[in-house]
Amino acid sequence: MIDALEIPVTRVQTSKLKDFSFDSLPFGKYFTDHMLVADCINGEWKNIEIKPYQPLMLDPALAALHYGQSIFEGIKAYKDAAGEAFIFRPYDNFRRFNQSASRMEMPEVPEEIFIEGMRQLVEVEKDWIPAKAEHSLYIRPFMFATDAVLGVKPSDTYKFMILLSPTGPYYAAPMRIYVEEVYTRAAPGGVGNAKNAGNYGGSLRAAVEAKNKGYDQVLWTDAHEHKWLQEVGTMNVFFVFNDKVVTPSLEEGTILEGVTRDSAITVLGEMGIKVEERRISIDELIEAYKAGKLKEAFGTGTAATISLIKELRYQDFVIEIDPEKCTTAHELKARLTAIRNNEVPDRHGWMFKV
Ligand code: COI
Repeated sequence: MIDALEIPVTRVQTSKLKDFSFDSLPFGKYFTDHMLVADCINGEWKNIEIKPYQPLMLDPALAALHYGQSIFEGIKAYKDAAGEAFIFRPYDNFRRFNQSASRMEMPEVPEEIFIEGMRQLVEVEKDWIPAKAEHSLYIRPFMFATDAVLGVKPSDTYKFMILLSPTGPYYAAPMRIYVEEVYTRAAPGGVGNAKNAGNYGGSLRAAVEAKNKGYDQVLWTDAHEHKWLQEVGTMNVFFVFNDKVVTPSLEEGTILEGVTRDSAITVLGEMGIKVEERRISIDELIEAYKAGKLKEAFGTGTAATISLIKELRYQDFVIEIDPEKCTTAHELKARLTAIRNNEVPDRHGWMFKV
């Protein structure tokens, strides 16, 4: 626990909330009234404030725009039946954010700014948390380099910010996935396990080509042989075989250490299902499918939570899975939802009260 930090708050004169409809909330499209801003100048954090959501005035030579020193996180806040606001596992995202910062040669954000700043911002905006199934207040902390100089070097100045977005489901229906063999998301020694902006920009060509072929996303494979499975789109991936669940291991540093991935492994364990974290190849997946052992496949992520995969295409081979029969994923999702809605005891201390 940290000492409360007095963060100055400048409130909007008129909230957008009174004209806001919670009926249709595409992911990340709408933002709340306020945002948090802080500056890091030569290692010193200053100018921390919560103020009305507004555009930024940026120098066109901004280092983040030219060389991509820019990282982010995705976290969600929920409201329980009693109307209390909770943030799901913010300390895990805080830890991962600072790991990303370290990999990108950026300063670590102190806990009193990241956690306490987020708590105060969500408290100011708690009326924006949708009280609807599959909905939440998506929290987007991010940091970028602000030096206005074109030399390639770590910036001396950074801006840390938090935005909030009331949001609905990321994928509305089970996904069709294309196994990617041309483009690469990450290689050992790269930045695949950091949540830096460039990983997402670099993924778009493959995603668009897959979309043009009729698929929702790609399943990334390794850079060297294009046979070892990594992640699905922006999510970690899980496969249910007859008696066990398998997910790619974190060892090579090519996939993101997902907080929802970790929650899924824990909850599956509580369901009596062993999760193997190890290398898994496309050949193993196809063999398991042909032998009738591959029962389910799904992605996990903060934005998408648990997203079922109904089809996987590898070259000319198509794996089809009936979403109705994905009982493990359905139960996992129901258990995670119950935890997030505060309907069951929080045995893991995952729910952070605002
Ligand atoms: C999240 O799940 O929060 C992500 O980072 C995915 C996002 C890029 C939409």
